[in-house]
Amino acid sequence: MSSTASTASTASTVITNIATLVTNDPSLGDGSPLGLIQDAAVVIDGDRIAWTGETSKAPATDNRVDAGGRAVLPGFVDSHSHLVFAGDRTQEFNARMSGRAYSAGGIRTTVAATRAASDAELEANLTRYLDEALRQGTTTFETKSGYGLTVADESRALRIAAAHTDEVTYLGAHIVSPDYADDPAAYVALVTGEMLDACAPYARWIDVFCEKGAFDGDQARAILTAGRAKGLHPRIHANQLSYGPGVQLAVELDAASADHCTHLTDADVDALASGRTVATLLPGAEFSTRAQWPDARRLLDAGVTVALSTDCNPGSSFTSSVPFCVALAVRDMGMTPDEAVWSATAGGAAALRRDDVGRIAPGARADLVLLDAPSHVHLAYRPGVPLVGGVWRRGTRTV
Ligand code: NIG
Ligand code: FE
Repeated sequence: MSSTASTASTASTVITNIATLVTNDPSLGDGSPLGLIQDAAVVIDGDRIAWTGETSKAPATDNRVDAGGRAVLPGFVDSHSHLVFAGDRTQEFNARMSGRAYSAGGIRTTVAATRAASDAELEANLTRYLDEALRQGTTTFETKSGYGLTVADESRALRIAAAHTDEVTYLGAHIVSPDYADDPAAYVALVTGEMLDACAPYARWIDVFCEKGAFDGDQARAILTAGRAKGLHPRIHANQLSYGPGVQLAVELDAASADHCTHLTDADVDALASGRTVATLLPGAEFSTRAQWPDARRLLDAGVTVALSTDCNPGSSFTSSVPFCVALAVRDMGMTPDEAVWSATAGGAAALRRDDVGRIAPGARADLVLLDAPSHVHLAYRPGVPLVGGVWRRGTRTV
């Protein structure tokens, strides 16, 4: 097998001799949520999965790749990132590691750097982080605005993002713009008015940072409701730094996802268990802010659908690595390796209300990761090791 070959997406290819295949289709393989098949093969036809099963039963195809007894799983679905920005916040991170607390106020540093950057610089940064993520197995990603906070800067961030992904989120309500420090209500009016009109054409989702020092529950409801009236669907930064109304608001508005979920009451957990809203956990943020871990076990035991994503951003979580987040979730958040891998693939797809990604089954998009390991468990068992040995995106081998 050539490690650099780029397989034409019009041809059919069979990947054989897969020690463990994660399909995320419980009707396939061992019947577990991961739908594991041992000694498996996958057929890719164009940009889609055409067949999965045991290697001995694989049909004939144009091309053949021998996985050599390694594992294959769906490409990671990173449903939460903030990648349109300039600058970094090394000094702030250093200060935190000397004991200073994280606060939403640091966002202002990135807002200043982002406003000062050219379109080309922002796009070059975005491309760099996307390439980084792809090399670590991410084949679908969501990303947000939120470091512009003017009509022109938010809409250009979304325009740049929309050239690279369909999963674009308008986050004009990241913090109150420093230009409106004395009049937050006027900023909410801008976010729900002229800025929304300029941003909606580029975005699928609307988000708000519902937190002390950012937006309260009433403001968040007004912002998400205004977005919904313009055809955007809600998702929320909720209950990250403190208890608050965000999670229950997410369920009330049928948001696709409540993100962070670090500080949860029993009523918050019950609300999540009763609705369709996915709880997206972002352990890179707790790692990089030395905060308490979200309790994934509590959510899973209550029947909540859990996604795992990076939150990649220059302030609270400057990692693009889903494998790193899987390892953290297993070590510190009570998840089993199987649960964490499901959450980073099928869970991310659920948080984006997608059923064409996050699984390897006939008809799904041919987004696959080949690990230099015999099973997906090694993602947690061998933390920090670059195990991603191959990536197919829409049927084309890119790594
Ligand atoms: O998801 N919580 C709000 N937004 C980001 C952090 C942004 C920043 O610090 O620049 C987050 O953690
Ligand atoms: Fe975030």
